[in-house]
Amino acid sequence: MSKFYLTTPIYYVNDKPHIGHAYTTILADVLARYHRDSGDEVFFLTGLDEHGQKVQQAAEERGVDPQDHCDKMAPRFLKLWEKLHISNDDFIRTTEKRHAKVVQGILQTVYDNGDVYENEYEGLYSVSEERFITDKEAESGEFRDIKKLKEKNYFFKMSKYQDALIDHIHANPKFIQPDHRKNEVLGFLKQPLGDLCISRPKSRLNWGIDLPFDKDYITYVWFDALINYVTATGFSVNDAGYEKWWPCEVHLIGKDILTTHTVYWPTMLMSAGIPLPKSIFAHGWWLSGESKMSKSLGNVVNPLDLIEEYGVDPVRYYLMREMVLGQDASFTLESFVKRYNSDLANDLGNLVGRVTTLIERHFGGTIPASGQLEDREQELRDMGEALSTVIPDHILSMRLSEAVEETMQYVRAINRYMERTEPWKLVKNNLERAGTVLYNATESLRQALVLLRPIMPVRTEIVLKMIGAEFDKVREPLEEGLPLGEFEIPFPKIEMPEADKKEHQTEEMNMSDEKIAIEDFAKVDLRTAFVIAAEKVEGADKLLKLQLQVGEEERQIVAGIAEHYSPDEMVGRTIAIVANLKPAVIRGVESNGMLLAASGDDSVVVVTLDDPEIGSGIRIS
Ligand code: MSP
Repeated sequence: MSKFYLTTPIYYVNDKPHIGHAYTTILADVLARYHRDSGDEVFFLTGLDEHGQKVQQAAEERGVDPQDHCDKMAPRFLKLWEKLHISNDDFIRTTEKRHAKVVQGILQTVYDNGDVYENEYEGLYSVSEERFITDKEAESGEFRDIKKLKEKNYFFKMSKYQDALIDHIHANPKFIQPDHRKNEVLGFLKQPLGDLCISRPKSRLNWGIDLPFDKDYITYVWFDALINYVTATGFSVNDAGYEKWWPCEVHLIGKDILTTHTVYWPTMLMSAGIPLPKSIFAHGWWLSGESKMSKSLGNVVNPLDLIEEYGVDPVRYYLMREMVLGQDASFTLESFVKRYNSDLANDLGNLVGRVTTLIERHFGGTIPASGQLEDREQELRDMGEALSTVIPDHILSMRLSEAVEETMQYVRAINRYMERTEPWKLVKNNLERAGTVLYNATESLRQALVLLRPIMPVRTEIVLKMIGAEFDKVREPLEEGLPLGEFEIPFPKIEMPEADKKEHQTEEMNMSDEKIAIEDFAKVDLRTAFVIAAEKVEGADKLLKLQLQVGEEERQIVAGIAEHYSPDEMVGRTIAIVANLKPAVIRGVESNGMLLAASGDDSVVVVTLDDPEIGSGIRIS
């Protein structure tokens, strides 16, 4: 067993959490879960950056103390992490006492080593922006209240460590990842490195940690923030206890904070005599379609809206599948729905439905025995075996989207195996062979689910239960006789957003060119049903809940027709339904069947019948 310490950036407490913050944190969570599953001892850290000018200003605007302001804002992140099932081991806030102590300890060491000097800086200062500005900025006319200011500050001799840092990057090829980011940093280091101003006079900013060697100053916010990564290990100067976790295996960051992490941070550590982190991995940006997400453009994706609408695991899946680590990725709702429907609802969901239904119907709901293996089973097993080395390799090399895709290829291969062996036919004349096929398909499905578990911890657990894999034994092969759990649709299909509907419709029309046999049609139990009552589904604009009389029986269905029919218009009609669909839960409401409707570009017309016998079968004639 080895240890694995990983971190996310600590996010600005003032920010409203968005998909970017959620992404880095989910990525860290997936890696943490993966390493835990592999038997590593994991320490996963995330937290908040709470000092600095913006926080001070925001608190002043609200007329509250900055600490109260932080305490009020922090839970927004904590709540989001809880909702996203983030399994962090620690949550650090830079306003905690444990942190101030470490920052001051490290500053004192750096100072004692002779790496801090005082310097007076004279330049143009914008009072409204509260920062020094360049001559060019002053000429731009965009800054108000400009004055010449002379200010004494403390500087860290970053330049002293420039050569050592370049050597370190060359000697440790994995230190900065991916390679193009490493080259970017090496390019930056070709210019002489300046020294870093690490103080702010209290006369203009006091929301920060006091410099231990001059109480009239506070620490520059980045010098303070980066140190969080060692604070959380229990670091204290002259105490070796923190070495259980430090150096950390990987700092996950976005490309926007590359220089601070790969130049400031390592040189600070060198000066303080603390080992450097093993690697820093910078991922790209999530764009909204083609453009940058920004508050002013109003295109920032709110993760809470998404998970409320579509569930946590599908969002985690999409983010991991869609971003090739290191590159930018584009987020659109259409691509989300497409990815979800094709990978999760179709490939994975249908496989789960098929194997469980057949086992339920023909093997009394318990895992059948695997008899004689034929080539096809052997092929499937070999593929599964190969995955068990390919996937760890992808994950350890931060190729997460490839790991997901390879796993889904496997799921598709299991579906193909089912189509070739046709267990639904075998059950009629060769039950033993049908059992073998179903055992092998379900066992392969179990392997795929275990690989997807770090990404979708909740839904994979549900499906594992459905296929009989016991909680503490999900990593062991299924055994004959294990009872299946209760069935539910793990990934109900999502309706396409309007913009994408047309394309989808043509796809469906193309599909309907394929001819089916009359026996296939006969499997669909079409019936007439009388609408006794109807009402809107709360919180869903498109859904109506209908109570139906079908022959002797009453049943409830949910239909996506609320934009076209009011509840009153539906009551009293006799409609046509598919009566033998598996029950589904749509927006928390159970639906036992679906109604037939003709749909055009903008219209939906429910198939309505005149005076038939209620509950009678609809047949082709
Ligand atoms: N507080 C600093 C980090 C200090 S770490 C010692 C900070 N905070 S932040 O709130 O701005 O968060 C920045 C991080 O959020 C990025 O590095 C990245 O991980 C994530 N993202 C923010 N927007 C993003 C996208 N649009 N896309 C992907 N991730 C981005 O900087």
